[in-house]
Amino acid sequence: MVFTVSDLSSDLSYGSIVRDLQPTEIADPGVRKRLYDLWVDRGLIVFRGTPAEPDVQIALSEVFGDPEPHPLRDMSREDGFPKLADVYYRPDEGDITRFDDGSRRGAWLPWHFDLFYLPQINHGGILRALTKPEGGGETGFIDRILAYDALPDELKQRIDGLYGIYVYQPDNTKQRYGSNGGAVLERMHVRSAGVLKRMELPPVAHPLVFVQPETGRRLLNFSPWYAIGIEGMDQAEADALLAALVPYATDETQAYYHAWQGDEMVLWDNWRMLHCACGVPADKYRHMQRTTITGDYGVGRFAELSAETRELLDA
Ligand SMILES: [Fe+2]
Repeated sequence: MVFTVSDLSSDLSYGSIVRDLQPTEIADPGVRKRLYDLWVDRGLIVFRGTPAEPDVQIALSEVFGDPEPHPLRDMSREDGFPKLADVYYRPDEGDITRFDDGSRRGAWLPWHFDLFYLPQINHGGILRALTKPEGGGETGFIDRILAYDALPDELKQRIDGLYGIYVYQPDNTKQRYGSNGGAVLERMHVRSAGVLKRMELPPVAHPLVFVQPETGRRLLNFSPWYAIGIEGMDQAEADALLAALVPYATDETQAYYHAWQGDEMVLWDNWRMLHCACGVPADKYRHMQRTTITGDYGVGRFAELSAETRELLDA
């Protein structure tokens, strides 16, 4: 083995860098186990010095599960690689978000984890940047194990056994809980608008606490984007409780922001990490590719809504 493993940062309790992993090493059972265990332990891996090519990205994803086409969007995909999803921002058609300071960003996304509006959540993904402009375009990560550990005991006890309710929301500036820096959606991606028209996704429920199966560590299983309430709880009480979780769930002092450099791939555990896209200047082009590593953490389901929450959705 020629690759090396080190911590992403001495300040962080999550994240590793794997340097110089060779494509020929990926098939080695010992290497595969070591990488899988590292992913479970650290939640986030930056691969540096491994050729960031489509076939390598897919082969590497297969170490951690089964990469499949993205289940929701009609992503255009690179010929011959259906397991790769293209994630473009084009100035003429992408999401543009405007902020309080007057800045306009393309492809900005608030803190979230992927597919949270479905009962089954993918286990992870590997992302790489093919084209990105100078300045902007960072991808942020927050560890939900850290977020849970930071909760006061009283909040830990209150959320134990509760299920949050989530509904797909294509407008990334519409959040019921927390602040999004005054973000206003100036233009919705033409594809998102189409998805919105076609889809009727029923609300789903996910436990506010998830226990990592391999380690027993508890994590704060909460994404402010998409959240609308708590099963079996009055709306006002649920609103207050979820709002109280936001500062812990999205504590940016504990975040890592990945500034993309040349030949890199980034793997994250979607059952553990929140992520966000800082966005690019609205007049610049960006192209990423990602895999979707499937899986089911087994605790999501369709939600049972109270009449009060149903009214909220119909409003
Ligand atoms: Fe995402």
